[in-house]
Amino acid sequence: MPQFNETELTAAVVRSFEDTPNPRAKFLLQELVKSLHDYVSKTDLTFAEWEYAIDFLTRTGQKCSDIRQEFILLSDVLGVSMLVDAVNHRDREGATETTVLGPFYVGEHKVTPHGTDISATLPGDRMFVQSRVTDLKGKPLAGVPVDVWHADDDGFYDSQKPSYATQGPSSRARFITDSEGRFFFRTILPCSYPIPTDGPVGEMIIQTRRHAMRPAHVHFLVAAPGYEPLITHVFMEGDKYLDSDVVFGVKDELVARIEKHTDPVAPDGKPISTPWHLMTYEFHIKPGGGAAPAPLGVKVTEDA
Ligand code: BEZ
Ligand code: FE
Repeated sequence: MPQFNETELTAAVVRSFEDTPNPRAKFLLQELVKSLHDYVSKTDLTFAEWEYAIDFLTRTGQKCSDIRQEFILLSDVLGVSMLVDAVNHRDREGATETTVLGPFYVGEHKVTPHGTDISATLPGDRMFVQSRVTDLKGKPLAGVPVDVWHADDDGFYDSQKPSYATQGPSSRARFITDSEGRFFFRTILPCSYPIPTDGPVGEMIIQTRRHAMRPAHVHFLVAAPGYEPLITHVFMEGDKYLDSDVVFGVKDELVARIEKHTDPVAPDGKPISTPWHLMTYEFHIKPGGGAAPAPLGVKVTEDA
């Protein structure tokens, strides 16, 4: 009979999963048990600490709703989301770097004509974004939907504001690349902002003396049939949080130089109020498959 003590317990629990029909599930569960047991042994976890952890995870679950995912936020601030992203993009082959999706991809990305000011009603320094989507050989890809979203001048996403229900999306749109793979739009310069801190994850960030800030960025989701969906951001060069992003999402290649301009005409030949900023960034996507993630709060149905 196995002795369920500190020496033999782990092996007994690992063995208990031996008949799991799905080999991958069996592997994942057995490795999880080994890592958890290793953690408990290494740290000499006390009952009080175990209870704290159970309570923390319980509160994390209780904070979740259709539109709030505190567990993903926890994964983000522990660097787990970026590690999952990294191990799944080991062979980029020159494709644009990826980063976290974040909780503010909430759908409502309406196809919008190129050149539109997607933040027309918002105060802030004006910015013109010009971009192109190509394959790995640099061939422009036409007809590709690109979802764009970013925070406003106060560091909030449209979906975080009470006005979202009545006024709908802002600083959020979908563009379809033209025959040369291009898309372009006007908006405002986003600013750095804190992740939601009104839950257990925020409590942990504050109690551990970390800061809750993300450097200013614009999110892009490029999803072309026959290509791997690209989930990424473009960050603003010079932001003081680039080196200490609370979710560890920054990569050198994703930092863009934002040029300041005083010309009263934008790159699309139309007037623009001065001064304005120019973001230029090209996305390179890799052949493959996979579905783009469903926005938070949008239920995926069988027919979707
Ligand atoms: C965001 O960039 O929107 C974000 C990403 C991860 C956690 C919180 C916010
Ligand atoms: Fe963001």
